Amino acid sequence: MRAALYRGMGKAAEVLRVEEVDRPEPGPGEVLVRVHASGVNPTDYKARSGAVPRPIDDFQIPHHDGAGVVEAVGAGVDPGRVGERVWLWFAAAGRRWGTAAEWTVVPARQAVPLPDGASFELGATLGVPAMTAHYCLLADGPVNGQTVLVAGGAGAVGHFAIELAKRAGARVVTTVSSPDKAALAEKAGADLVVNYRSPDAVDQVRAFGPVDRVVEVALGANAELDLAVIRTHATIVTYAAEAANPELPVRACMTANVTLRFVLLYGVPMAALDQAVADISAALAAGELTGLPVRKFPLAGIAAAHEAAEGGAVGKVIVTP
Ligand SMILES: NC(=O)c1ccc[n+]([C@@H]2O[C@H](COP(=O)([O-])OP(=O)(O)OC[C@H]3O[C@@H](n4cnc5c(N)ncnc54)[C@H](OP(=O)(O)O)[C@@H]3O)[C@@H](O)[C@H]2O)c1
Repeated sequence: MRAALYRGMGKAAEVLRVEEVDRPEPGPGEVLVRVHASGVNPTDYKARSGAVPRPIDDFQIPHHDGAGVVEAVGAGVDPGRVGERVWLWFAAAGRRWGTAAEWTVVPARQAVPLPDGASFELGATLGVPAMTAHYCLLADGPVNGQTVLVAGGAGAVGHFAIELAKRAGARVVTTVSSPDKAALAEKAGADLVVNYRSPDAVDQVRAFGPVDRVVEVALGANAELDLAVIRTHATIVTYAAEAANPELPVRACMTANVTLRFVLLYGVPMAALDQAVADISAALAAGELTGLPVRKFPLAGIAAAHEAAEGGAVGKVIVTP
């Protein structure tokens, strides 16, 4: 099969190649999936560049997320799954078989039925972003009737945090940096969209608040705003590291009796991942998850795809093997 892969870490154009490799066979408990769309996430290019290295077993086909059709199953998997449309999560976690190839093999639980009404492109953008958003949003309990602030609501995680929060019954305010991103966040269903660069951003969010839970992409940059708009005993959940570690205003955090939670999807408990898959599937079936705009690249354009994602493309970068 044709696969995009790298054998050593480095810049996209220097290490990513498209090669013929043997198509993997599904082992016990696994499914073989013909990949129609492969989603690029920051974790994929950080692993490839070596910024956050992961071990390479001879070669690494990148990308956790994808969507396609089950073509074969290994021992112990229901043969009735052959022909099923699926979305994939964590395909490359501890394995060489990422989704940037014509086929991939994943443990059966990581190939989740994709409803007919959901496109492969949407399916290929769910894994890392929607599952991270789900855990950030709900790890501290239900948000029904609460006020949620999603920082960076036009980002991949932010987008699904808005949609899942609305579905969970929250009032949602989100921050963005430009009118085009504001339009995306409004389309996702945010009740209020605030440009975090405007001088009265704090006042705008505070007028909507007080905020019970914050899904935060930039703790250092936004700590002051977050602390100004939360109610006491609120929770701020951070899922991204900034270039420099933040200095925390400890006294203000104590005064607010705030809980700070840090999330890394790789370490989220199995039961919470299963709950995320179940809730995301239910939201998909109800037509309540939408995709961000996509930029598509063929497999041969894998390096350009990574460069586009690393360059901060608005929306999602998708490779179509
Ligand atoms: N912990 C985990 O398990 C986990 C899981 C998924 C992603 N991540 C990390 O989370 C980050 C985002 O991932 P993603 O896939 O959502 O990326 P993305 O689609 O590029 O979105 C990032 C968003 O953050 C916004 N942003 C940046 N600085 C901001 C600020 N000061 N205030 C508000 N918004 C701000 C950006 O908007 P503007 O450019 O307009 O500011 C952008 O929309 C990456 O660093 C990724 O590695 C971590």
